Amino acid sequence: MDITAIPKNFLWGASTSAFQVEGAYQENGKGLSIADIRSFKKSSKQLDTKVTVDHYHNWEEDIQLMKELGLTSYRFSISWPRIFPMGDEQEPNADGLAFYHQLIDHLLANGIEPIVTMYHFDQPMGLIEKYGGWVDRQSIADFVKYAKCLLDEFGDKVTHWLTINEQAVLVVASDMLGISLDLPEKERFQLAYQANYHMWLAQAQVYKLYRDQYPNGLIGPAISYITTLPASRKSADMVVAKQLEDFYSFAQMDVALKGKIPQYFQNELIKMGISIVTESGDATILSQGKANVLGVNWYCTTIVEALPNQTQQMPILKRMKRIEDPDLVYTDWGWNFDSQGIHYGLRQLMDRYAETPIIITECGWSEKEKLEDGEIHDKMRIAYLEEHIQQIAYAVEDGVNVISFNPWSFIDLLSVGDGMEKRYGLVYVDRTDFDEKELKRYKKDSYYYYQNLIANHQQS
Ligand code: BG6
Repeated sequence: MDITAIPKNFLWGASTSAFQVEGAYQENGKGLSIADIRSFKKSSKQLDTKVTVDHYHNWEEDIQLMKELGLTSYRFSISWPRIFPMGDEQEPNADGLAFYHQLIDHLLANGIEPIVTMYHFDQPMGLIEKYGGWVDRQSIADFVKYAKCLLDEFGDKVTHWLTINEQAVLVVASDMLGISLDLPEKERFQLAYQANYHMWLAQAQVYKLYRDQYPNGLIGPAISYITTLPASRKSADMVVAKQLEDFYSFAQMDVALKGKIPQYFQNELIKMGISIVTESGDATILSQGKANVLGVNWYCTTIVEALPNQTQQMPILKRMKRIEDPDLVYTDWGWNFDSQGIHYGLRQLMDRYAETPIIITECGWSEKEKLEDGEIHDKMRIAYLEEHIQQIAYAVEDGVNVISFNPWSFIDLLSVGDGMEKRYGLVYVDRTDFDEKELKRYKKDSYYYYQNLIANHQQS
């Protein structure tokens, strides 16, 4: 392994999100979010958000584990309903703010740079009940009010901000926006893409707000980037791969970094029969509020093949199919291990956005795991980390401006889709879906591997 291209001031981190680790779902004034409600629907089958790994009461121990690991950054999210329990209050919840003040202060005191996500899948349920959440234009003002509150409180100590996590995932899994998956597809996407549009306008206002006040700080989105590869060298496969990747990942990045909705995205919506309600002045809001850092959630590649006899008039989602590559290893949940994909993906980002700094905000390998004499021998996760870090180093050598690596996840947490069964952590938490036990933390083999890698890199 040769990672000498990675600069000495590189941030070695890890990642989590509030509803997946905190627990304390109704403590000290916290309201309920759509992530809570969504998880309660599955409470009889798997873990929900009520306790998870109880980071809310174990944050000091968890930061101690980060420090021992040698982390120099930690990407986490602030729970929106801990700050504005129903979403529409005029004043924030002081206890909620106090929790994050102590967390951030403690991270900084331990030499760990906080990378803070404002909204990671947990819009307050109050806003969804009141006016439908992001589908309503009022949500823009409510998000900007929340973001402004965070910047007023923490802007002097946090210099790395992420606005919205994986907007494209919210559109596809629209129940995370409070839009029923049972609606007819066209109606569901009509609502979801209107919500997507409002999120774009909201984040643009927050980018402007922050960059006007803190010209040296970094702020941007955290985008799900699924590098999309053609199944063959045939141009038909290459075109669908390009169009899918553009529609799903690059449209989100283009809007945030270039301040304009790309024509290829607008064309797709027309093909889907979707029309977005806009107001005059919206284009100016987008062009005046641009991100200056790119958060990239990168796990795997996807491979696509063009369906026969399809015309360009059809939406991209109907003109291709995803296939598995028999040469790649897949997790039990169908995510491949394709490390050169991250090198290729990062090169594409440089082609498109030049030297914009990039934070790898998520990247990780999931497994079902069980303690063996207090140990977890997570060989695949170690291999995944090693090969992906190597490929990132190659990309850096090529000139890509990656500034921080934050694998998913620092600690075992509630998987969005699969409860406690699907684990990603460097730190194991001894609990199952239904047996909380003592929530004891254990360092996995991957923890020691990463600790060693960071120490070697810093000493070399
Ligand atoms: C990303 C999310 O989409 O993928 C995380 O930002 C999530 O919140 C991660 O946990 C993995 O997905 P899952 O369903 O395995 O938890």
